[in-house]
Amino acid sequence: MVQEPEAVEVRLAERSYRILIGRGCLAEAARFLEPFGNICHAVVVADGNVAERYARPLAKQLAQRVARVNLVEVPPGEPTKSVAEADRLWNTLLRLDTDRQSWVFAVGGGVVGDLAGFVAATFARGLSLVQVPTTLLAQVDSSVGGKVAVNLPGAKNMVGAFWQPRLVLIDPATLQSLPVREYRAGLAEVIKYGMIADPEFFAYLEAHVPALLAGEPAVLQHIIRRSCQIKAEIVGQDERETSGRRAVLNYGHTFAHALEAISGYDQFLHGEAVAIGMHCAARLAAALGLLDRAVVERQARLIAAIGLPLQAPGYDASAWIQAMRHDKKVSAGKLRFVLPRGVGCVELVDSVPEDSVRAVLTEIA
Ligand SMILES: NC(=O)c1ccc[n+]([C@@H]2O[C@H](COP(=O)([O-])OP(=O)(O)OC[C@H]3O[C@@H](n4cnc5c(N)ncnc54)[C@H](O)[C@@H]3O)[C@@H](O)[C@H]2O)c1
Ligand SMILES: [Zn+2]
Repeated sequence: MVQEPEAVEVRLAERSYRILIGRGCLAEAARFLEPFGNICHAVVVADGNVAERYARPLAKQLAQRVARVNLVEVPPGEPTKSVAEADRLWNTLLRLDTDRQSWVFAVGGGVVGDLAGFVAATFARGLSLVQVPTTLLAQVDSSVGGKVAVNLPGAKNMVGAFWQPRLVLIDPATLQSLPVREYRAGLAEVIKYGMIADPEFFAYLEAHVPALLAGEPAVLQHIIRRSCQIKAEIVGQDERETSGRRAVLNYGHTFAHALEAISGYDQFLHGEAVAIGMHCAARLAAALGLLDRAVVERQARLIAAIGLPLQAPGYDASAWIQAMRHDKKVSAGKLRFVLPRGVGCVELVDSVPEDSVRAVLTEIA
């Protein structure tokens, strides 16, 4: 079923762009590029898990209106977000006679989006970029907001840029081939949007758990669109993370990043760590008297119904706290968290006493 895509507008000071969301839209990608005029050269970057299935058909489709189209494959997995891989890609672009009129299409999950986006931001001082996210996490989070980056050993996303795409094309049908664990992990970010901004959306998620788990098209379309709207609105208010408004997107993430670090990045998918992190944050908020315990339970019920974890057994609270003090979003080693006050409402709380944090982690770990 091909459906006319819905558009979410991302309004930024310098340049605005659209996120198009629609089942089957990739099969008509060339049509959505018409507003941009003549494009002479496109480089489609994808990882090995999506290259044949989605990137090659997209490249063929683009060839209808782009004179020269190249397909470049990178290895799947987080290690691909490296300076070495960016270097390889820069040199590949050079060999392909890429210039400032060329466009980069990033087809895949957040890894390809961040790497190809970073390379697009830097090659020849910046190329036009189209994000074509194919994981739920990338469709609701990483492809929206313009952050692109590669990792340094031991420092995730340390070298990067803000580089807004010209267009984001989301085809929810691509999620059919996504491993179910990856899909559920993406739902953690969707739950996050309900908690930080929209109680009605949160209630919608609660009411549609079986349909969510089955990936029902109408439900997928709704959750992707609403998530993109919420993120776009927040990013529009704080494009470069200077006013603090964008910090609410980090709900659950201070706990999550630290858990990912102490578990060596191979125990939990990011979304799984975020689910645990949101549960920690809610419990912490309740312990500090900021949140009704009933809300802690309500969020926990939804997380569990989706099949996401709430606990991280066996991790040491001290190591976890230590890792949180090293988070690059933590100012001067202070323990600072985005905490819920209710469903759809969060606030940034500074200088949280370590004892309160330790008490929560001791229950979770
Ligand atoms: N830029 C941002 O604002 C931002 C926000 C959140 C996360 N991120 C980054 O995103 C990355 C994680 O992204 P991710 O979760 O999408 O991981 P990912 O890109 O590694 O994709 C997960 C796995 O799914 C495979 N895959 C992708 N689409 C598929 C499909 N449709 N069918 C079958 N397999 C498919 C990939 O090859 C990979 O093996 C992290 O590096 C994180 O730092 C960036
Ligand atoms: Zn996240």
